[in-house]
Amino acid sequence: IRIYVPKDACAIACGADEVVEAIEAAALARKQPVEIVRTGSRGMLWLEPLVEVATPEGRIAYGPVEEGDVEGLFEAGFLTGATHALRIGKPEEHPFLAKQTRLTFARCGIIDPASYADYVAHGGYKGLERALALGPTEIIEEVKKSGLRGRGGAGFPTAIKWKTVADAQADRKYIVCNADEGDSGTFADRMIMEGDPFQLIEGMTIAGIAVGATKGFVYTRSEYPHAIWAMEKAIEAARAHGMLGVNIAGSQHSFDMEVRMGAGAYVCGEETALLDSLEGGRGTVRAKPPLPAHKGLFQKPTVINNVLSLVAVPHILADGAQKYADFGMGRSRGTMPVQIAGNVKFGGLFETAFGITLGELINDIGGGTASGRPVKAAQVGGPLGAYVPTWQFDLPFDYEAFAAKDALIGHGGIVVFDETADMVKMARFAMEFCSVESCGKCTPCRIGSTRGIEVIDRIVAGERREQNLVVLKDLCQTMKLGSLCALGGFTPYPVLSALTHFPEEFGDTPRRLEAAE
Ligand code: NAI
Ligand code: SF4
Repeated sequence: IRIYVPKDACAIACGADEVVEAIEAAALARKQPVEIVRTGSRGMLWLEPLVEVATPEGRIAYGPVEEGDVEGLFEAGFLTGATHALRIGKPEEHPFLAKQTRLTFARCGIIDPASYADYVAHGGYKGLERALALGPTEIIEEVKKSGLRGRGGAGFPTAIKWKTVADAQADRKYIVCNADEGDSGTFADRMIMEGDPFQLIEGMTIAGIAVGATKGFVYTRSEYPHAIWAMEKAIEAARAHGMLGVNIAGSQHSFDMEVRMGAGAYVCGEETALLDSLEGGRGTVRAKPPLPAHKGLFQKPTVINNVLSLVAVPHILADGAQKYADFGMGRSRGTMPVQIAGNVKFGGLFETAFGITLGELINDIGGGTASGRPVKAAQVGGPLGAYVPTWQFDLPFDYEAFAAKDALIGHGGIVVFDETADMVKMARFAMEFCSVESCGKCTPCRIGSTRGIEVIDRIVAGERREQNLVVLKDLCQTMKLGSLCALGGFTPYPVLSALTHFPEEFGDTPRRLEAAE
């Protein structure tokens, strides 16, 4: 009997390894042979560890399973899919999964991420096969037709970036995958690397063929040891099967890759700081131009794409650009793996076509707050994203719609707050975060963030409140326009959104704010 237990970092944190040991012990005591397959996560994080059993009607899930539940599950006959208080039923029929459009996460939680054969059996490498048949120009044309835009946050058209690198003349070019997932409330990159790593290898290989690059790097964080392990295992297996290295899949193309680990500085998610770090230096933002597409890693033309952009590519090639472009709204085509987190009842990974509203995501899918109190606001797009109040929850998930409201989708992370959230504290935290994480290269960010904390402190202390509010807004404007990168340039979003939507909290009753924990 085959049992599936996630090896995803979230599941492990919730006790998945202990559950595996308990299942092995209980099976041994009953002389019941079982095969335990460690998968990625399905993304229903409140149900982790989610244990699935292969039965004649398909997989039956139980969750959240604790070590102490295992004996009871065996007693109840869970190996045959029997009834139990923790029985979820068929995972794909659970409303959280049934409502999704899973393309990039289609295999996550289903396959064994370490198995090349499992990946191929579930449609893997079909995209590369077609890419090899099409050739570089046609691959870029297909990506262009799909409408794919960078999923790291900026939403820049992927095909234009690839074309710039493809047209550049150089003896070497590189593909760099930005897996330095630093935004609060985001975990999609990690989940893919842990749950479906071959997909990223396939996407990077296609990118390499498209632009003429023979070497790729995945740059990720030291906080992601499980993802690094899974990626390295998959890279080894891909090499052993001739899908990385010289003459991949018997073609005339060569491509190989490796994983590099950063030390966890937020700014190293900014592409040029990432390059500095990858080259072995301190992560400091470079002025653009030159764009990395012209002079990137070791001064060579470099494609830098987020994990989610690269893993969309095999689907676009395998199923055709039109199928991908048929999802979405406006200029936001395809699907977005939305990460629902914070004070929310049903948090997890929800992949859906662009166009779904924020309210649907938080209230209908996320089930409102975990605390049971009314939702107050959600911060979308990481620590530099705006706070969106409930009265704007009809906002559709779309780059342009968010931008029109001075908000951003970023990497698709949503952090939900209930009515107890102190918005002044949140505004102060944004400045504090910026002052800690600033690379120090430019003045509006390095000095402005520290002055920002001081000004907010004066406002709440009731010191010359009106004048200091003007100073705060002016400072935000300076940071927005004068910062070299998004860290300093986007910090005003959370600050100004808190101030715009919750002005009464910056009111004239003096109080003292403590530094955010
Ligand atoms: P950007 O708008 O400067 O550039 C977007 C991308 O397009 C870059 O890769 C740039 O090199 C490329 N590009 C621009 N013009 C090009 C051209 N003509 N040819 C080829 N390539 C071209 O944005 P930036 O500063 O790279 O990213 C800002 C975004 O990062 C923000 O929207 C924010 O949401 C996001 N972000 C994401 C984080 C995460 O954890 N994923 C963390 C922090 C910020
Ligand atoms: Fe560095 Fe901040 Fe300037 Fe970005 S905005 S270059 S992080 S000092």
